[in-house]
Amino acid sequence: MNTIQIHDKQFEPFISYATIDETITRIADQLNTDFKGKTPLFLVILNGSFMFAADLLKKVNIPCEISFVKLSSYTGTQSTTQVRELIGFNEEVKGRSVIILEDIIDTGITMEKILERLNDMGSAEVKVATLLFKPSAFQKEFTIDYIGIQIPNDFIVGFGLDYNGLGRNTKDIYKIVEPKLKKSC
Ligand code: IMP
Ligand code: MG
Repeated sequence: MNTIQIHDKQFEPFISYATIDETITRIADQLNTDFKGKTPLFLVILNGSFMFAADLLKKVNIPCEISFVKLSSYTGTQSTTQVRELIGFNEEVKGRSVIILEDIIDTGITMEKILERLNDMGSAEVKVATLLFKPSAFQKEFTIDYIGIQIPNDFIVGFGLDYNGLGRNTKDIYKIVEPKLKKSC
């Protein structure tokens, strides 16, 4: 894997698809065990989670429904406190066991808003599954039930994640290369 350029920034190889695939298999195995005998609704948070969801759901072998919500909270490489809801929730979550599929939890602001909405709409049980988690950026209190890989607070792209719209379509995950500061003597 080589360094890639997206817009004005360089990104270096960080997590290989082999590792991502192993991680997703582990989460799917846990879900297959934990939700045996239930028919959960998977709620995929677009855009970033489309690859994670597609890979994970091929490994989920319990009966399930799949639905999509589109939200956006990022501009550039910084999380914002404003979460824009682009495609809303509908009533199908009422009384259901819902498993939220998220690509990454950073500050937790987006997920907190989703959890509040599901609670308001009367979901019976809500679990959170995220492929990636940045513990040092997390500002919230809610439980993350299924965590794929914990990563440092660096901006990443690939496997569904973007930098200003580009970079979602790689199999592997890349990390931003911060320009080295020159030492002054
Ligand atoms: P949060 O609300 O700060 O937890 O951010 C969650 C959303 O921000 C995720 O669903 C991603 O879409 C996006 N995001 C967070 N960290 C990154 C990153 O490192 N690269 C690209 N998108 C990110
Ligand atoms: Mg996302």
